[in-house]
Amino acid sequence: MAHEEIIQNRRTFAIIAHPDAGKTTLTEKLLLFGGAIQQAGEVKAKGERRRARSDWMKVEQERGISVASSVMTFNYDQKTFNLLDTPGHEDFSEDTYRTLSAVDSSVMVLDAAKGIETQTRKLFEVCRMRDMPIMTFVNKMDREALDPFHLIDEVEQTLAIDVTPASWPIGMGRDFKGCYDLVNDQLVLFDRGKGDVIQDSIKVEGLEDPKLDELLPEHLVEKLREDVEMVRELCPQFDRQAYLEGTMTPVYFGSAVNTFGVQELLDGLSKSAPSPLPGKAVERKVDPNEKKVTGFVFKIQANMDPKHRDRMAFLRVVSGKFKKGMKLKHVRSGKTMAIHNATLFLAQDREIAEEAFAGDIMGIPNHGNLRIGDTLSESEILRYTGIPSFAPEILQKVRAEDPMKAKHLGRALGQLAEEGAASVFKPYLGSDWVVGVVGALQFDVLADRIRTEYEVPCKFEATTLMTAEWIEGEAREVKKFCDLNRASIAEDHSGAPVYLARNSWHLDKAKEDFPSLKFLKTKEEI
Ligand code: G4P
Repeated sequence: MAHEEIIQNRRTFAIIAHPDAGKTTLTEKLLLFGGAIQQAGEVKAKGERRRARSDWMKVEQERGISVASSVMTFNYDQKTFNLLDTPGHEDFSEDTYRTLSAVDSSVMVLDAAKGIETQTRKLFEVCRMRDMPIMTFVNKMDREALDPFHLIDEVEQTLAIDVTPASWPIGMGRDFKGCYDLVNDQLVLFDRGKGDVIQDSIKVEGLEDPKLDELLPEHLVEKLREDVEMVRELCPQFDRQAYLEGTMTPVYFGSAVNTFGVQELLDGLSKSAPSPLPGKAVERKVDPNEKKVTGFVFKIQANMDPKHRDRMAFLRVVSGKFKKGMKLKHVRSGKTMAIHNATLFLAQDREIAEEAFAGDIMGIPNHGNLRIGDTLSESEILRYTGIPSFAPEILQKVRAEDPMKAKHLGRALGQLAEEGAASVFKPYLGSDWVVGVVGALQFDVLADRIRTEYEVPCKFEATTLMTAEWIEGEAREVKKFCDLNRASIAEDHSGAPVYLARNSWHLDKAKEDFPSLKFLKTKEEI
């Protein structure tokens, strides 16, 4: 296959959902279609085995949330799909936001009984900021659900996006009989209890086809005809351009757990979702068809395989064809790295990457030299942008329970900071560290990881600090400010000075006294 065709046939996407809407189930079923797993249930089973191995992930189990995200690659319809998993819990949204910077489109899963929930909305907004194309999957139609007209209206009103149903449900809950596929004019009947089987669809000649009357109860056929007429009157037709620009979402109705509606969604992705999009670097736009390899790191994850205690940098390939052993320039340090043991994430297993193309995600084992936001490039100096960094919102002090282990704690915190799990500050004065996170639950996960991965029991304690702000400006001014405010200055993991302000009065005063300095809530990643 020609290089351009290979790229044309790639789909890199994520699923966004409020917890419990059915993201895991849908993922599992997508993999079932991709032939990547033989039986549904494997994703979960595998997930559970993996979780059982690692102690810190107990937090996940206990609280019933999914903390770590991963990548799954599968083939369907002669295309390669890269599905990036995102944690649903709001306290781990940094990871999710960064993951969304590495995909070209998303599927938004809604629980049919609940419609748009808080987390769906937040994640949708992130996609919108990037004008990302979104398909909607209304899940759990086999249960009592909101009226489908109400649902599409809610999507349209609350998210301010044009909605075009791609299928229409026939009944719901116990009466759910299937969907009418508005794209291909076919009837897909729901066969309860055949969750692991891919169901056939029945071709019909439009809504007037008498086959419908044979197959469905009279009152439901009548309602279906009325509904579809209304849908066609009220909703705009699918416009691929509008979808690609992120202003229109096609809506599929289904039941993931029953493998229902999933194939239609996958066909939609195959047909309409974008192939890898150009990358945005400070210097220029980079076309995926360019021959030279470039990519950016959007996530670092530790402990994917506890046996190796590895840390994996996830690289989104933006352009070119990667070959095993290739030398890539690490733009931030200027050093060259030979990449021999990058991993591709096939759903069944991980595999050493012999080659990879634009749109693919490679896992590069690394000992701390790769950071979130870093660019790797075959030749040209480029710096990719758009990987969000987050202002730490809650600050706590941390100290090792055994004072002899303070150094170990420092090392653990440094690594966690590079991984993007938290912001870590070492105050100029005193022996405690200050850790900043976005969601309070992250402190529990951190404490647990530091104890199990680094064997340093530690304690987090509340502080009266309001905010941590990076200080930028002319070196002499920065030094002068730091000297005058030593008790409130810390260094981040890379040695950059940070002002730990107790309240807004202090911060305002600092800004007033040093007007040439900039106080930044986040540190630029590049
Ligand atoms: P999440 O990843 O978005 O958090 O959701 P997940 O797939 O884990 O699904 C949440 C719950 O909803 C699960 O039930 C799952 O079985 C159920 N579910 C998913 N799709 C459907 C559907 O189409 N219809 C119905 N009725 N239920 C669905 P659980 O009881 O929490 O877990 P489990 O023990 O059943 O696996």
